[in-house]
Amino acid sequence: LSPFFKSPMVDGGYDVADHCAVDPVFGTLDDFDALVAEAHRRGLRVIVDLVVNHTSDQHPWFLESRSSRASAKRSWYVWRPGRDGGPPNNWCSEFGGPAWTYDPATDEWYLHSFAPQQPDLNWDEPAVEAAMHEVMRFWLRRGVDGFRVDVVHKIGKDPLLRDNLGTFVGPSHHRPGHRFDEDWPSVHPRLRRMRRVVKEFGERMMVGEVYLLDQAAMAMYVRWDDELDLAHNFHFMNLPWSADLVRTAICELDRLLEPRGWPTWCLNNHDHPRVASRYPGEAAARLSAVLLLTLRGTPFLYQGEELGLRDGAIPEEQRVDVAGRDPARCPLPWEPPSVAGPGAGFTAGRPWLPIAPDAETRAVARQLDDPQSVLSLYRTLLALRRREPALRVGSMAVFEGTGPVLVYRREVPTASLLVLLNFDGQPATVRAADVGRPAIRGTIEASSTMDDLGRGVDAPEVELGPFEGLVLREA
Ligand code: NOJ
Repeated sequence: LSPFFKSPMVDGGYDVADHCAVDPVFGTLDDFDALVAEAHRRGLRVIVDLVVNHTSDQHPWFLESRSSRASAKRSWYVWRPGRDGGPPNNWCSEFGGPAWTYDPATDEWYLHSFAPQQPDLNWDEPAVEAAMHEVMRFWLRRGVDGFRVDVVHKIGKDPLLRDNLGTFVGPSHHRPGHRFDEDWPSVHPRLRRMRRVVKEFGERMMVGEVYLLDQAAMAMYVRWDDELDLAHNFHFMNLPWSADLVRTAICELDRLLEPRGWPTWCLNNHDHPRVASRYPGEAAARLSAVLLLTLRGTPFLYQGEELGLRDGAIPEEQRVDVAGRDPARCPLPWEPPSVAGPGAGFTAGRPWLPIAPDAETRAVARQLDDPQSVLSLYRTLLALRRREPALRVGSMAVFEGTGPVLVYRREVPTASLLVLLNFDGQPATVRAADVGRPAIRGTIEASSTMDDLGRGVDAPEVELGPFEGLVLREA
């Protein structure tokens, strides 16, 4: 669940004004409890967003902190005098402009890595850490199964607040220009202590939004039973459409994670253009479905991805987001607007953002009974993954030298699945020798086009159509 906490909604609820209250637009704490209970009854687990790096400027902690330099909560945020009439250093906000805002009442500047209405908490202040642990316990006691920890790499910053180094790219650094304002070593003991809080409640999990573009830096956050269970992989998410680059990333991460480290794969979220819009359309949506659900690791899917939905078109007067991310956030169309009206089954009222233009053809109701649809493909792949241990826990061997086709084998002692993904808009061939076999032999378990399911293959080579993906159970 994305943030549903009390918030002025300057940044889609990532500006939290009370971590332990449900914003009235979503309901009440009783509604939340009922949601968790009903989800658990259905065998679903509920993971909630935990916004730890910053709060809303309307949070009582910040109101108190800003009230005077002598306030007991002054040290809960990052306040500094200016430098030469300007901000204290050269750090920039992720949303553009300086990461500092001047507060005339106390003649100091406060830090905000995002919008000015989202002041950064000072994690060097132990009371902040303790307060955030209490927030975690509040939700864990209410039965949540884990947390998605927002921009967790930002809860450690250089305590000296040194200037970032413009275009600096160190040997294993991740984002040019972010040398000192994130991923500071102090982040790791902080995560370790968060892990201890989670462990007080038994089997619960933490996935981090570790927005570092270097897999080596990101992998340091994934420490089984110690730091994060999972970290979103933004290097992978930001890759251009290329079998070579995906192959390299997968193999690299495998070498970088600690032995019990478990990979996470995701290509869509509420901050990025959708796969069907940024890659070659529906064909890419289909191929990426096969990729995400057959890689070794935990896949994360974003609402609408299972429909092959494209970004919406947002007229200027309907824009909501501070950073232009509305197109990827259009509501899920359950039914075509021609049938259900302008809310597309998402709401009987007016949707908070326009319904995506392709809702008419891509709505859930249009796809459910169509055996070729993207939704049917997702359902086939999910069912296959559920019944096939090789896909869930099997080893993964990635083959080199297969050009535009990404090829890997997932294996347990009792089963072997070969996955072939053609990233090219032209047909491509994979030879048996490429995958270390005398022949390519087996049964098609899944196919991006939803054709040929159950068909046998026994040939010296397999030809794949443009953007075609196949999962073959090897004989
Ligand atoms: C990451 C969230 O995914 C994004 O939507 C938000 O704007 C920033 N963190 C700030 O909380």
